[in-house]
Amino acid sequence: MLRAARRLRPAHTPVWFMRQAGRSLPEYRKVREGIAMLDSCRRPELVTEITLQPVRRYGVDAAIFFSDIVVPLKAVGVGLDIRPGVGPVIDQPFRTRADLDRIPELEPEMIGDIAESVGLLTAELGGTPLIGFAGAPFTLASYLVEGGPSRDLARTKALMYSDPQLWEALLQRLAQISAGFLRVQVAAGASAVQLFDSWVGALPLADYRRFVQPSSAAVLDAVRELDPTAPRIHFGVQTGELLPAMAEAGADVVGVDFRVPLDVATARLGGDHAVQGNLDPALLFASREVLGQRVRQTLEAGAAAPGHIFNLGHGVLPDTDPDQAKFVVDTVHAWKG
Ligand code: CP3
Repeated sequence: MLRAARRLRPAHTPVWFMRQAGRSLPEYRKVREGIAMLDSCRRPELVTEITLQPVRRYGVDAAIFFSDIVVPLKAVGVGLDIRPGVGPVIDQPFRTRADLDRIPELEPEMIGDIAESVGLLTAELGGTPLIGFAGAPFTLASYLVEGGPSRDLARTKALMYSDPQLWEALLQRLAQISAGFLRVQVAAGASAVQLFDSWVGALPLADYRRFVQPSSAAVLDAVRELDPTAPRIHFGVQTGELLPAMAEAGADVVGVDFRVPLDVATARLGGDHAVQGNLDPALLFASREVLGQRVRQTLEAGAAAPGHIFNLGHGVLPDTDPDQAKFVVDTVHAWKG
């Protein structure tokens, strides 16, 4: 995985899945029974077990740290919860400058348990790399401003367009928090990071550059400063128009959703970035024959890039049959480009 991220041709194409730990695994549902999502993220033994589950079951080439993008917000004191089947819900949505005072900077001591979890994990993982992650400032802001998940991000965009100064102040604060969360994970032993800007595809390119890119760049730079050898992956959904600008923010690997074929994405990126993706997660519900064909098609398209990390175009869907995910891993590993 690290070799592919660094554009050094590995022996086989590496594969892992966004949301590989989680509801699709019976062993996950079992250990999570009776424990709230955000509580489970703060228990190092449980985080270690859940992070390792998909590595054991699937033989994926990387582990992704079990946590959530809102964990560092909660750690600085923002009132929020993750509701099952809904997602993050914020007690008091962000509306005015006074609301900034309720979002203090993140200090490493606030997330000592995260460093502990990463330490336990890297000891158990052996040669399998651990990917640390955080939410990018825009996506975190979207939850804070909307108060929860939203289809159109109307309030977020309204704040961004009508009060650019407050928007910038909010994104700077969130960049500090996001960078702090990533740096703690890297300092404790994560070998790579992924910055999720899941919902930034809602913006046109010019607005992305003006209102978002500087804060995402600040996060990625802060990781590079700490460890220049840790690859930085940057991903968002529906970001086909934004891929070069997201690369410019400081990504080594650009995550691509399932809407843009990887050879097209590679051409848009000028041919000099590794890519990650991008099988439609819905295809895991299709027949083995169709699934196998689409996996190979994705591998062939990915071969156009100087490095390819196989993944889905977004997270594993909750009702996915784990045997189908295992079939994808085996098909990727068996592929001889
Ligand atoms: O396996 C992994 O990928 C690592 C764990 C992980 C989780 N959240 C655990 C989780 C990761 C990387 C995330 C990132 C995350 N969280 C993102 C970015 C990735 C993406 O999907 O675009 C976003 C937008 C969130 C916010 C969030 N948290 C959502 C949208 C949800 C799902 C709501 C739902 O139930 O449909 C959550 C909850 C969440 N985060 C779960 C898990 C395993 C489900 C919790 C449960 O009810 O068991």
